[in-house]
Amino acid sequence: MRRVPTGIPGLDNIIQGGFPEGSTILVSGGAGTGKTIFALQYVYSGAALYNEPGVFITFEESPKNILWNLQNFGWDYASLNKQGLMKIYRVSIDTPEKFAATWKSQVDNIIAMVKEMGAQRVALDSITALGMLLAEPIVSKEGAELWMGNALAIRTMIKDFSDRLKELDVTSVFTAGTKEDKKTEFSTFGVEEFIVDGVIRLYFIPPRRAIFVRKMRGTQHSHRVHPMTITEKGIEVHANDEILWEALK
Ligand SMILES: Nc1ncnc2c1ncn2[C@@H]1O[C@H](COP(=O)(O)OP(=O)(O)O)[C@@H](O)[C@H]1O
Ligand SMILES: [Mg+2]
Repeated sequence: MRRVPTGIPGLDNIIQGGFPEGSTILVSGGAGTGKTIFALQYVYSGAALYNEPGVFITFEESPKNILWNLQNFGWDYASLNKQGLMKIYRVSIDTPEKFAATWKSQVDNIIAMVKEMGAQRVALDSITALGMLLAEPIVSKEGAELWMGNALAIRTMIKDFSDRLKELDVTSVFTAGTKEDKKTEFSTFGVEEFIVDGVIRLYFIPPRRAIFVRKMRGTQHSHRVHPMTITEKGIEVHANDEILWEALK
């Protein structure tokens, strides 16, 4: 099995060299734990270090915020974009009704972009935003149910998208916010973790940050919680150090 190096220093050491090619990895954690930076760094590093084209899909942040993040870490998006190595796709939301009606065609657009670029990496930030939009049923003025709005429907959307990326051998990172930020909580709706190949949890217990690989198919991953830092260069995982599970909230 080919491994896709994440480009996040230290992380590959705890997952046998990288993500399994074609897998979908869920990266979850509370607000400010580093999910967006993780997803961005994965796509950026693929392009900058390994010459692997990638797409960063955002629901949450305006392109301006993303560019600010890239600038913050000195990541030269403009030149990678020019070379066709990296693209940012902002999902158009407008209203939940319009979003529900256009999601399928937006996925088609993303898949077309992935094919055209020969993208090997995709990051989707975040499936929580997607789920929040669609958690409630959407009913037309005439009373017709346009969207049933439940966890199963959201799960199906995420799974369909993940399957289409897999068909193209794309290795993806989906981010998800945890609601209560309990250490044993791994996703927003409690369903995503069953449809992905890997689950990585990020923690921020000030002043310390940590990372834990909960699951990774076909991988003898570390079973320890490792310290993680965010510096002006981005995320770094301290593969040789450990934080005790009991120290987490
Ligand atoms: N240059 C930097 N040096 C250190 N920490 C930083 C830097 N840039 C951002 N951070 C930290 O990263 C956090 C944001 O991470 P982000 O990936 O946006 O979180 P999430 O998406 O999980 O909400 C900030 O709140 C800050 O603590
Ligand atoms: Mg974020």
